[in-house]
Formats: sequence, C-alpha cells, structure tokens
Amino acid sequence: MTLLTCCIGSGSHQQQRYHLLEAASFGKKSQLGIGIGIGIGLASFGKKSQLGTGIGSGIWIGEGADRGSSAKETRSRSGIRRRSSNWSPQERARVFMSAVGTEKEMEMELKHAGFEGPPVQIPKLGLGVYMAAPRDAYQATLAALKTGYRHVDTAAVYGNERDVGQAVRDSHIPRQEVFITTKLWNSDQGYDNTLRAFNRSLAALGFDYVDLYLVHSPMAVDKRLHTWKAMEEILKSGRARAIGVSNYGVHHLKELFANCEIRPSINQVELTPFNARKALVKFCEEENIALEAYSPLTRGKRLNDKTLVQIAQKYHKSTAQLLIRWCLQRNFVTLPKSVTPTRILENSQVFDFSISPEDMTKLDGLDEGWISGWDPTKGR
Ligand SMILES: NC(=O)c1ccc[n+]([C@@H]2O[C@H](COP(=O)([O-])OP(=O)(O)OC[C@H]3O[C@@H](n4cnc5c(N)ncnc54)[C@H](OP(=O)(O)O)[C@@H]3O)[C@@H](O)[C@H]2O)c1
Repeated sequence: MTLLTCCIGSGSHQQQRYHLLEAASFGKKSQLGIGIGIGIGLASFGKKSQLGTGIGSGIWIGEGADRGSSAKETRSRSGIRRRSSNWSPQERARVFMSAVGTEKEMEMELKHAGFEGPPVQIPKLGLGVYMAAPRDAYQATLAALKTGYRHVDTAAVYGNERDVGQAVRDSHIPRQEVFITTKLWNSDQGYDNTLRAFNRSLAALGFDYVDLYLVHSPMAVDKRLHTWKAMEEILKSGRARAIGVSNYGVHHLKELFANCEIRPSINQVELTPFNARKALVKFCEEENIALEAYSPLTRGKRLNDKTLVQIAQKYHKSTAQLLIRWCLQRNFVTLPKSVTPTRILENSQVFDFSISPEDMTKLDGLDEGWISGWDPTKGR
C-alpha cells in the first residue's frame, strides 16, 4: 500500500507549495491502515522545479495496492489528503488543485428544461483563453491540464480553438475527461449560419463533439431566435452535450423562454464582487439556469482594491484566489484566464479555504455594477 501525502514546502514563491510524496510503503493487501511517512518529492511548476521534504499521515480503507480499487476518502483540516487507492496521474494532478476540496465543490450539473439527455457535469473551475495568442493558448491549456484543470473556455472569435484542441490531444488525457466550451460569434448568427459555424468550430478543435456550445451574445437582435433553433438541433444531434447563452439579460432570457423548445442550461456573464448582478442571478437561479462568471479577475484591473487585499491577507491568499473563491461560494462556474503557468497553478488553489459569511458580506459591499469589458446584457 502506498501512502500519498501532501507536504507544505518552503520556496521562493509567495504561495505555499504542495509536494506530492509517496512517502511510505506498507503491506500489499491491507484493508485498513494508519501510518506516518517521511519522504522527498520533486514538484514542477512551469519552468521552476522544487525539491521538497515532508511528513504526512494517512488512513486507508480498502485495497490500497490494487489499481482502480474504489477510493474512500477522508478529509482533514490540516490539508493532508488521505486515500485508499493508488492514484492515477490525473488524480495526482488534482491534488495540486485541492488540498481539502471535494468533487461536489468542483463540479455542478447542467440541466436543459425541455430536453431529456444524459447528465452533464461541468467542472466549476475552468481556464479562460480570451486574448491568448494561439501559441500561448496551446501552452496555457497544456499547463492547466497538467495542473489538474479539466475545463477550457474558448470561442470562435478568440482564434485559438485549433490550439486548445491540439493541447488536449497532446496532454494524452482522454477527451471525455476534459470539458470544452466554445461559442458562436455574433456575425455567424441565424439558423443556417449557426450550423455552419458550429461545424467550423468542431473542425478547428479537431473533435466530434463539444461539451458546451454558447451563443456568445444576444446582439444579433433579429437573428437570435433563429440561432436558438439551430442550437436545439445541435444539442439533439449529440454533437454538443449542453447548450447555453452568454451575456443574456433577464429580458433576453424571457424572450427566449417564450419562443424555445429547449431552454439554455447556462448563462455566461461577467460576475465579480464589483458587479454581482443580483437581479439576473436571482432570475437564473429561479429558472434553473446555471451561471458562469467570466472575467472573474476583473482582467487584472481591480486586484489591488483595498478591501480585497485586506480580506485576502486574512486567508493567506492572493486577491485573485479570493475572487475565484467568491465565485465558487456563490455557486458560479468560473473561468480565470492566464497564460502564466505559476498563475494557472495559483488560480487553481482555491478549494482549500472558505470565505466566512462576514467576509462574503463585506465583498457584497463592493457591488457597484462595474464592468471590465463589454456588457450586452443591457442591450436590446
Ligand atoms: N462570454 C464573454 O463575452 C466573455 C468575455 C470575457 C471573458 N470571457 C471568458 O472568461 C475568461 C476570463 O476572463 P478575462 O480573460 O476577460 O479576464 P480575467 O480572467 O478576469 O483576467 C485575466 C487577466 O488577469 C491576469 N491574471 C491571471 N491570473 C492572475 C493572478 N493570479 N494574479 C494576477 N494576475 C492574473 C492575466 O494575465 P496573464 O494571462 O498574463 O497571466 C490576464 O491579464 C476569458 O478568457 C474567456 O474565456 C468570456
């Protein structure tokens, strides 16, 4: 049986690093075990590698030495994660993301009113690749998948679908383990155009399906209902596991509900403490439409806000991590973008702390309807 421990290492980076250590070996077929281990491990983050030593403890239930044995898991406040089975490389990567996180915190189910399909789980943390040049999007996707992300958000208009698809293939992670979103651009709206644009996106990605296909905005006023008919066809064909909208306000959604057969499963909009969109969020929650927060880091524009800095310091986290955690606690899927491997890692270390109700209230006080980019939710 292998004991897998997480140890905190010291390093040049401000963030604490988790070193995965296979620290101790015990008998092969134990059903139950308790142990302490000491070990040395090497952790690599982008260009930097670090040697770490550590000590850890673990409890096992089940057949530790058998591959694929059912894993029962316990959690501890110390951040040491205990498991009963051997870990696959993917599971190892996930430890980097989540010292004490659970699957429940990491995924949510997407539902389409009016359509009975297989259940679709969306990872709540995804990598955004807007404004990432093709080569950067490739490297960032690869780095994120290595770190443990299993969700990438691209769009036809970002010009990097091809690179995202290639990175998924080059990661050697099975396609079905990665959640890929792409979006239909405004100039491609209308029934026939949508079907053609979807085929182009699939070809660029090099996949035969996407996990989520979104209408990028409601701005094609006269075409958007025809567009949605094509979206419904795409969902029924199985070539998108889920469909949704982006930048839709309440009035856009009401118009869609009155004219559609299948409702969107999700609405992707800018959401931060500086723009909490209370009315839209309440409406979507009541109508079972999941919310996806884009530009969760304010595109870097508000990361030095005094209140954010004060609260983040309390949890020994960066303001970026605080903003991502705020999204998770509000039950939003969130898509921080970075092309920097150390930040990609940092942005994933958000499942090992929790913002208190008092601090969530303080963050609520920052709401001023502030927008970092565009806001089609208010348009016609
Ligand atoms: N549907 C829509 O209309 C829409 C609109 C906007 C965005 N989105 C989606 O949402 C994703 C995220 O939004 P976004 O790209 O606008 O902005 P964002 O995620 O709020 O911010 C990205 C910026 O923050 C920097 N950054 C990342 N991690 C950081 C960290 N830990 N510390 C300091 N700075 C950090 C990035 O720099 P580096 O990259 O240089 O590290 C980049 O400049 C997009 O990529 C896209 O997938 C959708």
